[in-house]
Amino acid sequence: MKYVRLGKSGLKVSTVCLGTWHLPVSKERDSYGVFKVDVVQSKRVIGKAIDLGINFIDTANRYHGVLNDEDPEHAGTAEKILGQTIRGYDRESLVISTKVRGMVAYHENGEGLSRKHIMWQIRESLRRLNTDYVDIYLMHWPDVETPLEESLDAMIDLVKMGKVNYVGASNFHPEDIDFMVNYVRRAGAPFNVIQDQYSILRRGLETDKVPLAKRLGLGIMAFSPLAQGFLTGKYLDGIPQMSRASYVEKMKEWYFTEENIKFLREFHEIAKENGLKDSQLALSWVVKTGEVLGVSMIPTISVTSVEQLEENIEGVEYSMSNDVYRRLNELSRNFLNRRSEPPKTTRL
Ligand SMILES: NC(=O)c1ccc[n+]([C@@H]2O[C@H](COP(=O)([O-])OP(=O)(O)OC[C@H]3O[C@@H](n4cnc5c(N)ncnc54)[C@H](OP(=O)(O)O)[C@@H]3O)[C@@H](O)[C@H]2O)c1
Repeated sequence: MKYVRLGKSGLKVSTVCLGTWHLPVSKERDSYGVFKVDVVQSKRVIGKAIDLGINFIDTANRYHGVLNDEDPEHAGTAEKILGQTIRGYDRESLVISTKVRGMVAYHENGEGLSRKHIMWQIRESLRRLNTDYVDIYLMHWPDVETPLEESLDAMIDLVKMGKVNYVGASNFHPEDIDFMVNYVRRAGAPFNVIQDQYSILRRGLETDKVPLAKRLGLGIMAFSPLAQGFLTGKYLDGIPQMSRASYVEKMKEWYFTEENIKFLREFHEIAKENGLKDSQLALSWVVKTGEVLGVSMIPTISVTSVEQLEENIEGVEYSMSNDVYRRLNELSRNFLNRRSEPPKTTRL
């Protein structure tokens, strides 16, 4: 495993980050009718990732591990499982990021980026994660009802209290990011990362946030680099049972267009010609793009098995030739011009 500095900060992270939005799923449903997380497999996958050198793990206060959407009844499960797993490891060797903003309770202050909510949620996250501090605390998406300065002052205080090492933001407008980074840094606290969606099918970030990240010295955690599994080749002949698209309706809405399926077929051919799995081609394209654009771009993946994890790590480590990179960009440009955007949402 290779390690890089996250943006211009001194923090060193593995070139791939393991996310916990989705964890291995069991076939059983709970009393709400929601599939349960397979806790044993989840711990196995996280442990294996650490054993294979991944030191960077991402979570959020609202993550369940199977549910895609916000749901206060299920929030916190992923952090709990992660906290139980890292008990067996050297905490100081790990870089843990978590997030705050999503709805975790039904009352007025049960979500958002107010000082009250942030101070409450860091206590909850630290308790579940079984740690005294998080390495990176991300604002998950904007809260238009709270002045940005109030949220940032709370984040800065958490840094000063030693509960957070670095501040970051996810799904924010570039102008907000510029403001936030300068505000936090002026107060003497480090802001070193943004987290946004990025894959060969979703390249919006390149126009504004990549140049911004370069100028401000930020790392980029590129989430859903496999387009939630769409780019792994598993959907070429329909939707396999218990794959994410089999139980996450939104995923079908977002990715399963005629155009995208056509893209998948051509993408698959290029993977085959190069002796790679589709997932590996998709991940190595993200890494290569980071190199070409001159930013630390960290693909932030989920996996539901150790086999997927191992396959994906090989993809991240594969060094893509300039020819293949050019071909993929041509293919993507042809499709990008005609593809439809997913419904606009920051509520991932
Ligand atoms: N900040 C935000 O708003 C935000 C939003 C989304 C995600 N994130 C972060 O980014 C992480 C990754 O997002 P994501 O889960 O959408 O990422 P992704 O890596 O694009 O998709 C992961 C899914 O693809 C399937 N998969 C992965 N590797 C595979 C392989 N080799 N072969 C076949 N299938 C494979 C698995 O689903 P199945 O096996 O179930 O089909 C897996 O759960 C999350 O865990 C979270 O930490 C952040």
